[in-house]
Amino acid sequence: MNAFEYRNGELHAEDCALNALAEEYGTPLYVYSRTHFEHQYRRLAAALKDADPLLCYSVKGCSTGAILELFRGMGAGLDVVSGGELFRGLRAGFDAEKIVFAGVGKTVDEIRYAIEQGVGFFTVESEPELERIAHVEGELKKSARVAIRVNPDIDPGTHEYTCTGKGDTKFGVDPATARRLSLRAIEHDALRLVGLHTHLGSPLMSVDPYEKALEVIRPLCRELKERGPHFRRLDLGGGLGIPYRPEEEPFDLDRFAKMANAAVGELGLQLVLEPGRFLSGGAGVLLTRVQYVKPHPSKTFLIGDAAMNDLLRPALYDAWHGVNAVRQTGETVCGDLVGPVCETGDFLARDRELPAAEAGDLLAVMNAGAYGYTMASNYNSRPRPAEVLVEGSSARLIRRRETWDDLVRGEE
Ligand SMILES: Cc1ncc(COP(=O)(O)O)c(C=O)c1O
Repeated sequence: MNAFEYRNGELHAEDCALNALAEEYGTPLYVYSRTHFEHQYRRLAAALKDADPLLCYSVKGCSTGAILELFRGMGAGLDVVSGGELFRGLRAGFDAEKIVFAGVGKTVDEIRYAIEQGVGFFTVESEPELERIAHVEGELKKSARVAIRVNPDIDPGTHEYTCTGKGDTKFGVDPATARRLSLRAIEHDALRLVGLHTHLGSPLMSVDPYEKALEVIRPLCRELKERGPHFRRLDLGGGLGIPYRPEEEPFDLDRFAKMANAAVGELGLQLVLEPGRFLSGGAGVLLTRVQYVKPHPSKTFLIGDAAMNDLLRPALYDAWHGVNAVRQTGETVCGDLVGPVCETGDFLARDRELPAAEAGDLLAVMNAGAYGYTMASNYNSRPRPAEVLVEGSSARLIRRRETWDDLVRGEE
């Protein structure tokens, strides 16, 4: 489904004209489609229904409270990687049992908070972390549930910064260590081993890396299921990709579901998934208003009011986002869409055919719903944008635009 479509030459989010939203809420502005979030979640849940999965929406993708509440309403769990994300999830009314806590650097305070709240399980990334969890658990006299994160040493074909499944990254432990730590957790009075976890990277456009990871993990699952009285989950992480470029094929959800359903069926385990981008990426656009058109001998710079501080992915990963004119003209220009930040790396699109725009025109940076607002910062003392959630013909502000006062709040 495409929630962002042209009607009479005007780009809409569902039934709302983006131009009208920009007039009302200002720019830069994140606009999300509720229907798109729901559609993606239901597609995934339907494809995996045979596995009776726990779908833990990955908070880091898009973490605004209204959006978390939307996922809670559909029955999702959450994948969190910090005490702050856990706080957000609980505040949005999630049942702690349905929250999984990942991340290589969990502090004692975060572990304590998570155990006190009763999170579903920790995905454990190292031996010292396992010991720390056991220690805190001992203090609190509660039982901590853990799933060891296996690093299967597989190249998922992502940007190197978002590859987490290769052996030389900081994530998880090799299969032999995972086995040893799992057996230790089974024997430890303070711990309950509830499953194994892996997450290969993001975004994955092919199912192949998941299949390779399963080959590595499957024998370990079989052994641990026999030996661990509480071992009942296989968590394949997130990473399911979305097409950013027009020529990219969508992620093969049917093939993925067939593989995952078969694997957990054969192993007698429950499937856990931690999708972020797949659920939220296509649900959002970032609107930017062109301030200046700056000609240059080799290209044209469209200078908008959104910058790398609002959407970091192009600057950080050289990520590609489609750029559409909100009012379609069909005319194009070759150049860059840049922002006002004082960095040459401040671009949202580079050396591309872009809509020919004039000062005052609105552009939509597409597929900005995942790792957009959550990675935004105040760099160059720029207040962060507002966020609006659209449903049919109604739109609602779900986060107000920051002000200059917000920039200095908390300073002493
Ligand atoms: C452990 C873990 N799970 C899930 C995700 C979500 O990934 P994606 O948004 O690609 O689904 C990430 C992303 O970094 C992650 O590190």
